Amino acid sequence: MNNLFDLTGKVAIVTGGNRGLGKEMALGLASAGADVAVVARNVTEEVLEEIRNQGVKAIGINYDIRDVDGYGSLVDQVIDQMGKIDILVNNAGVQKRHPAAEFPKEDWDFVMDINANAVFYLCQTVGKHMLERGKGKIINIASLLSFQGGLTVPAYAASKGAVMQFTKSLANEWAGKGVNVNCIAPGYMATEMNTALIEDPTRSRQILERIPAQRWGNGQDMQGVAIFLASDASDYIHGYTLAVDGGWLGR
Ligand SMILES: NC(=O)c1ccc[n+]([C@@H]2O[C@H](COP(=O)([O-])OP(=O)(O)OC[C@H]3O[C@@H](n4cnc5c(N)ncnc54)[C@H](O)[C@@H]3O)[C@@H](O)[C@H]2O)c1
Repeated sequence: MNNLFDLTGKVAIVTGGNRGLGKEMALGLASAGADVAVVARNVTEEVLEEIRNQGVKAIGINYDIRDVDGYGSLVDQVIDQMGKIDILVNNAGVQKRHPAAEFPKEDWDFVMDINANAVFYLCQTVGKHMLERGKGKIINIASLLSFQGGLTVPAYAASKGAVMQFTKSLANEWAGKGVNVNCIAPGYMATEMNTALIEDPTRSRQILERIPAQRWGNGQDMQGVAIFLASDASDYIHGYTLAVDGGWLGR
């Protein structure tokens, strides 16, 4: 049996791991053997139990990821309880939709704070711990809108473009020091974030018609790639954004 993908004994932080894609990635990492710290606003005991059912340790930390000043103590808390951090999945994200001409500043700042600023500063804080240990895997969740502009979502596109770009910047500095920083760009996934699109019959049909795989994605589609980028199998992959999009970007 090849153990390139084995995460036994590794410790992962998954932000927003209480639902949606984050929850499925947390379960995927756990199924490969990683202990998981779920950092989210409302961590439930059910989610932690589901993770523990994979035979690993799981802790939950209720945290608003906008509290950048608290990252030092957040990281200390995880290290106190789990011993170290090997894997960081920056998954927490939000969406706000308005025509660009009317996009309110408050919503622009909200999206940028959670989707871009929090991701960078958590990379920085956890990255320091990884650099000291000379090993670590950071997985940032980008989007198709790291590549494309989208409709009525300029803040989201700006934030996800930023994530893909600074992932390369971090990789340039940290690749030689044993820390891998990469992105996953999910395509159109059927989660609560996309309720507005799914419930709009025209947009929903238009999107489906353009996906070569002929279906929306789901959380399970994220598990293999999360395990891959968290494991030794991806040791020579740095600064790359891997699309999990049913072929969308190839059209
Ligand atoms: N669903 C898609 O089609 C899609 C496509 C591309 C990228 N993504 C990205 O994937 C990630 C997960 O999205 P999802 O579809 O599972 O969405 P979701 O809305 O189901 O989950 C988002 C998660 O982020 C957490 N979160 C939001 N704000 C937070 C805050 N201030 N503090 C702590 N946690 C916070 C939520 O609690 C939740 O767990 C996001 O970064 C999103 O941008 C999703």
